[in-house]
Amino acid sequence: MIVSRYIAPIRRDMPVHSTDFLIIGSGIAGLFTALKAAEHGRVTVLTKKTVRDSSTGLAQGGIAAAVHEEDSPFLHLEDTLEAGAGLCDPEAVNVLVTEGPARVRELMEMGARFDMKDGTVALTREAAHSKARILHAADATGEAIRAALVEQCHARSIAVHENTFLIDVLTADDTCQGALVYDAGRRESVAYLARAVILATGGTGQLYRYTTNPDIATGDGLGAGFRAGCELVDMEFVQFHPTVLATAERQRFLISEAVRGEGGILLNHRGERFMSRYDERGELAPRDVVARAIWNEMLSSGQDHVFLDMRGMRGAAQRFPTIYRNCIARGFDFTRELLPVSPAAHYMMGGLRTNLNGQTRIAGLYACGEAACTGVHGANRLASNSLLEGIVFGQRIVDNAEEIMWSRSIGFEEVCRSFDYAWVREPYRGSHALEPLEARRRLQETMWEHVGIIRDEQGLKTAAAVIDDLYARLGCGDDPLPYYEVANMLTAARVMAQAALWRQESRGAHFRRDFPLADDLHWLHHLVFQRR
Ligand code: FAD
Ligand code: SIN
Repeated sequence: MIVSRYIAPIRRDMPVHSTDFLIIGSGIAGLFTALKAAEHGRVTVLTKKTVRDSSTGLAQGGIAAAVHEEDSPFLHLEDTLEAGAGLCDPEAVNVLVTEGPARVRELMEMGARFDMKDGTVALTREAAHSKARILHAADATGEAIRAALVEQCHARSIAVHENTFLIDVLTADDTCQGALVYDAGRRESVAYLARAVILATGGTGQLYRYTTNPDIATGDGLGAGFRAGCELVDMEFVQFHPTVLATAERQRFLISEAVRGEGGILLNHRGERFMSRYDERGELAPRDVVARAIWNEMLSSGQDHVFLDMRGMRGAAQRFPTIYRNCIARGFDFTRELLPVSPAAHYMMGGLRTNLNGQTRIAGLYACGEAACTGVHGANRLASNSLLEGIVFGQRIVDNAEEIMWSRSIGFEEVCRSFDYAWVREPYRGSHALEPLEARRRLQETMWEHVGIIRDEQGLKTAAAVIDDLYARLGCGDDPLPYYEVANMLTAARVMAQAALWRQESRGAHFRRDFPLADDLHWLHHLVFQRR
């Protein structure tokens, strides 16, 4: 597989910093883990742009937890397993749903304010949840959480270094020693030594032409972890959110599933309500089912969208103010007209394989949040389980690291001694070299076309060949960051295409038109990739 171990070499004379917990990423997974870790040692958070740039800040619908007396962790477990289509790890799901309510309460104590009704938290419903169990802050839940966590980090003087880009994980003898980082402000590479490194770098939405994800979602942690020797698992399972506003934008504005949870209905171009033809749960069927149904309606009408009808929803502009404001800014008033919607890449179910304590197979290296694959999502994530996963496993990582990390010795000398220069990948400098931004654009087109909502063998083989070619010809301009990002995107994309090619069945979010049925006899297992 097309992967070189290190994108940039280390130098003995480079600046070296040290800390106890090195956390890469400032989304919910990174910041919550940082706050917990600060109770035990020195914490450094690195983030590649500003602390505002994350998927977390964009989350709308909310965070799922069985906090109501008519709900229970068991019901939440059942719904999560059902959505995961046979590939969830039941033990991991059990951890998620039983530890989730306590973590959510802590989030509230940290200052995240969720909507209240009659003196108790207001809960909404989203697709494939059997109960209303989504806590939310109107339709800007992620921003409420993000702001509270950032404020807590300031209050506890936790250092968050912006514009600091993880290049690679530093290892010696299969143990993690720290990370190699590019400080974009100073335009220099820096080494950070740490007893525990936590990759909380988020997802991979930017691999696709249309996505709900922000620019930062380029799978950097997946690339770095994979190069260091971690396993990537379940990478064929990419969730496409059914309803984003169908505008000319590439990063498309999400119309939360909570809208359908509270009465929004889907119509095709003939004005027909179509979801009941695909699933008895109608608009509240699991996301993959709704996304494929919409795709199908789009194909049969020859249009690039269907419609979401919110006109009959009383008070919708007050309940969903962020969505209302953003739709108005784009020229749509949902109180009076239909919204054109279509699916877009939204969430990566796969990622760096971890155990129940967030550990990867490299000692001292952890993964958390969307970058991790803990086993809770299986083939399809249940709505609003992602924010929850970040905090439940963030706590577990800190508990585990705190127990074992103090006995580990780490040092820059060990890193330099075991650094293998043979693995360093030089950018291509021949006459057919591709600018990173051009390679990124071609990759996004290819992934949308061939590794998207509906896949088949021919398309996946085409995608694999295009990705190999882009990787072979990837050049580097004056600024190394686009190069590092695209190298990571290509690594993640290649594994995704291969996994999708190998899985000759349809399950959850992975749909093969040439193998349209699930095949439990042969495929009830995970595809795991590791660098040779
Ligand atoms: P992120 O929040 O994406 O943070 C990743 C961090 O890593 C960022 O700070 C980024 O800058 C940093 N980073 C990345 N690469 C590097 C690098 N090389 N070096 C340094 N730093 C790096 N989930 C729910 O549960 N409920 C919802 O309602 C919901 N709504 C959503 C709405 C939208 C529009 C989107 C996009 C997602 C939504 N999700 C929702 C999914 C959820 O928001 C994400 O899965 C979750 O926030 C991921 O958190 P995270 O901390 O793992 O990653
Ligand atoms: C949404 O609000 O529809 C997104 C929820 C999620 O991704 O979990």
